[in-house]
Amino acid sequence: MERLDRLLSSRTGCSRKDAQKQIKSGAVTVNGAVCKTIDAKIDPDSDVVEAGGHALGEEYIYIMLNKPAGYVSATEDRRDKTVLDLVPPELRRKGLFPAGRLDKDTEGLLIITNDGEFAHRMLSPKKHVPKRYIAQLDGEITDDAKKRFEEGIIFADGTKCLPAKLQTVENSHNRAGTVEICEGKFHQVKKMFAVCGLQVVHLQRISVGNLYLDGKLPIGSCKKLTKLDIEQIFMGKLY
Ligand code: URA
Repeated sequence: MERLDRLLSSRTGCSRKDAQKQIKSGAVTVNGAVCKTIDAKIDPDSDVVEAGGHALGEEYIYIMLNKPAGYVSATEDRRDKTVLDLVPPELRRKGLFPAGRLDKDTEGLLIITNDGEFAHRMLSPKKHVPKRYIAQLDGEITDDAKKRFEEGIIFADGTKCLPAKLQTVENSHNRAGTVEICEGKFHQVKKMFAVCGLQVVHLQRISVGNLYLDGKLPIGSCKKLTKLDIEQIFMGKLY
């Protein structure tokens, strides 16, 4: 059993004080009846709690963000706007964080969640969840670059990357490539191309596992993922 004000605060991300205010104002119902008792005992598994007419969110939430350039993948930052600033109030929960990092200038699919175990499963190189990117380059992709990606790029400091797949994007005059990697080293894609003498001029993540960036999701917008979407992430292992 959990106190109503605590449940409301943890599921919506509002402060305990705000939760108590909402409860006292009569905006919260339990199993259809208004409940103004801030410490009412609630069974989160069986009681239906609604605030302002909306059912309380489930414990864990998974959000797809079409990340724009200019935002850092962090929960807070003293200088820059963070990806959490783009999460709309109705999707906010306590403990949200970006599952993995995209550079400040990288765009595309970023998953924001409050489920640490899920994030670990998605990000661990051992789980082999492929992440796909489209990279625009300052020069042409060669067969040699493709071969080096396939064999596992080695950075100047000796760090060896896992094998990756590089394909040229059609009609790009070999200046754009799709890259598939199963790990997330710092600036990995940019550094892999740099080893091949190419500079990434634009980078967008398009998928994680079999979950693709929703083409109808405007840049800078979020949408809540379904259970089925989450399952897609762990399908389509390639290596
Ligand atoms: N690789 C990069 O270099 N940057 C990103 O943002 C993601 C992968």
